[in-house]
Amino acid sequence: MSRIGVFGAGYVGLVTGACFADLGHDVTVRDVVPEKIDALERGEVPIYEPGLGELLERSAPRLRFTLDVHDAVEGADFLYVCVGTPPTYSGDADLSAVWTVIDELQGSVSGSGALVVMKSTVPVGTGEKVRAALDARGLEGVGYVSNPEFTAEGTAVRDFMYPDRIVVGSFDEADGDAVAALHEGIDAPVVRMDVPSAEMVKLASNAFLMTRISFINEIANVCEATGADVVKVAEAVGLDHRLGPHFLRAGIGYGGSCFPKDSLALKQLAANSGYHFQLLNAVIEVNELQKRRVIAKLEKHLGKLRGRRVALLGLAFKPHTDDMREAPSLVLASRLIAEGAEVRCWDPVADASGLLSGVVRCATPLEAAEGADAVVVVTEWPELADLDLAALRAAMRTPLLVDGRNFLDPDAAQAAGLVYEGIGRASQSSFAALPETPETAASDLRR
Ligand code: UDX
Repeated sequence: MSRIGVFGAGYVGLVTGACFADLGHDVTVRDVVPEKIDALERGEVPIYEPGLGELLERSAPRLRFTLDVHDAVEGADFLYVCVGTPPTYSGDADLSAVWTVIDELQGSVSGSGALVVMKSTVPVGTGEKVRAALDARGLEGVGYVSNPEFTAEGTAVRDFMYPDRIVVGSFDEADGDAVAALHEGIDAPVVRMDVPSAEMVKLASNAFLMTRISFINEIANVCEATGADVVKVAEAVGLDHRLGPHFLRAGIGYGGSCFPKDSLALKQLAANSGYHFQLLNAVIEVNELQKRRVIAKLEKHLGKLRGRRVALLGLAFKPHTDDMREAPSLVLASRLIAEGAEVRCWDPVADASGLLSGVVRCATPLEAAEGADAVVVVTEWPELADLDLAALRAAMRTPLLVDGRNFLDPDAAQAAGLVYEGIGRASQSSFAALPETPETAASDLRR
């Protein structure tokens, strides 16, 4: 069994560390945030990720946490870089955390044996730069391998243990063999290649998934205009074995820690190399517009939104995570507030306080819906499948339900007296007369 130092105790680092420890390796996870390390040492999990708590507990005998870089490097065979690479103002990936780790490693690794493994998502060419930096320091004996992660939040532990493939990009055959062998116990094809290609696999995979989402969202928008139902369309399209059913759920756009950042990074990577990546630009633009379409839907039924009360059900960028990074809910809530609407929200785990001001957080979906002129399903949390639609209708002031994820049953919603508006589905007729708010009444007088 090997000794592994993991740098970064975020989603990627914790899942990587815990899973390798579960496979029997000896793992030390190092982070620079003392509160995070303290919490982990107390057995607390600083992020919401299903299954991670149990895994950390189970692998505790082989898992340590530290603030000290030397603890993680000492005797380690593999040094996994799992730090964040957020976008900069230019859209390029910010590699400062990666370079800080590389600098620290250069000061701590002694000579040969250790292998630096890049799990953070980095632009193509980063590995070659790190290799050159290690060589310049006389660390030619320290290997470098690219081993990108493809785990999705909410299913990260399962994705790590049962991946579709393990990608290993190396400069040196033996280094690649060592990283491939580290994954023994995981039943998946190992795809070997050079370092730049491995870096590109990650960016290309994410870009393709985003392309599918923006594609189906555009089909949804055309469905809306032509009377087709995108849910049925996607089901049948997905049954074509050449296309497959995944990432064809129309909705209010993608968010999260990877897609928005990685699409910008790939766009900039291409642009910096003199190439205009037209398709990717369109994918990004479609997603930006998609997040705003809910506003138009609300206005179609309610008119001006000033003074209207809107309940957002779900805040996280997707269910089973508390991650608010690039969540469509943030754009939606900000637009609603800018239009003068009153926003109430519910989410079982995500907390937007500090990100959204002027939004009232409620303990239950029904509490959020109290006196609302519209309820918007923003994140398809399973809890919402059991929502009592009659009680929801009774709590609301105006019975408008915008299902931003096509998650609820339109017929059941209609039967409960709600006006249902999905994404890419035939729109139901609106209510005859709207109750007025003091603001709308006043603006009518001014007209
Ligand atoms: C993604 C990739 O799936 C993963 O391989 C990569 O390592 C990191 O980025 P993640 O961001 O955790 O993972 O979530 P994912 O489940 O892929 O969803 C991303 C976004 O796309 C969410 O906002 C989700 O709601 C949206 N989405 C997904 C759709 O709108 N429609 C779909 O059909 C699928």
